[in-house]
Amino acid sequence: MTTPRSDRAPLAVVTGASGALGNAIHGRLTGNGWRVVATYNTRPSLSDQRTTWVHFDSADDTSTSALRQAVDTHTGPLRAVFACAGAPSGKRPVAETPVSEFESVHQANVLSLVRTWHALADRARRDGTSIVAVGSDAGRAARPNNGPYTAAKAALESLVVTLAKEEERHGVRVNLIAPSLIDSPLARHVMALKGVTDPEAYAAQLPWGRALALDEVAAVCVELATAAHWSYASGQVYPLQAVR
Ligand SMILES: NC(=O)c1ccc[n+]([C@@H]2O[C@H](COP(=O)([O-])OP(=O)(O)OC[C@H]3O[C@@H](n4cnc5c(N)ncnc54)[C@H](OP(=O)(O)O)[C@@H]3O)[C@@H](O)[C@H]2O)c1
Repeated sequence: MTTPRSDRAPLAVVTGASGALGNAIHGRLTGNGWRVVATYNTRPSLSDQRTTWVHFDSADDTSTSALRQAVDTHTGPLRAVFACAGAPSGKRPVAETPVSEFESVHQANVLSLVRTWHALADRARRDGTSIVAVGSDAGRAARPNNGPYTAAKAALESLVVTLAKEEERHGVRVNLIAPSLIDSPLARHVMALKGVTDPEAYAAQLPWGRALALDEVAAVCVELATAAHWSYASGQVYPLQAVR
């Protein structure tokens, strides 16, 4: 049995911390003295003084207990959970997208939060934790050739609002940020699938003439979860995008 750490530093969970946005949030938190339980699926990292890494696969039942146990090794208050796990679609029309892709994209984007909540609900209710899930503007834009991702991010919005209503009496806040394109490896992968050959020119056509920066999205996530002036906000969806 692992002895819990008696450190009282605030604790956060970042799912999908091996990804670009999760990594940016993780870095911001540890830089400010937080302890972090960080999850990866296929890209492991080594734990250190500030970070406990845990394998977390939204399709794997053992991930629930693994995440719960990793958090239980810390006695500090669980102040925030950042649900960054997610996966893109194959960018094909619905007619050409296998049902299995709808299932796996839903699994990564939506059931990852369900599993996270199953692992953390008791601790979060005790500690009055704030949850920030990362959706996407795709959840409402419903652009063609992105059916599995669009459907998953729309479902994630509904899940977040439901959770917020269910958990309000426990002092748990649950919100969703819905960014547009972030300058990241995932975005470049998705652009390649869409046949975009000049990502800079593509970004220049976006509102404000650029994609969002990882750091500015990470800053919004951390502030929404932790700043006193957001302590009333729950069950909200915050788009991070501009209009033309
Ligand atoms: N990048 C963008 O332009 C953009 C825009 C809007 C919204 N978003 C959303 O922001 C979030 C983070 O994006 P990102 O750019 O950081 O993506 P990323 O670099 O691809 O990271 C995705 C993370 O999710 C994990 N993951 C994937 N499938 C999983 C599964 N089935 N179970 C558990 N974990 C799983 C990955 O783990 P491993 O890498 O270890 O396998 C990785 O840590 C995603 O929800 C994405 O939809 C991104």
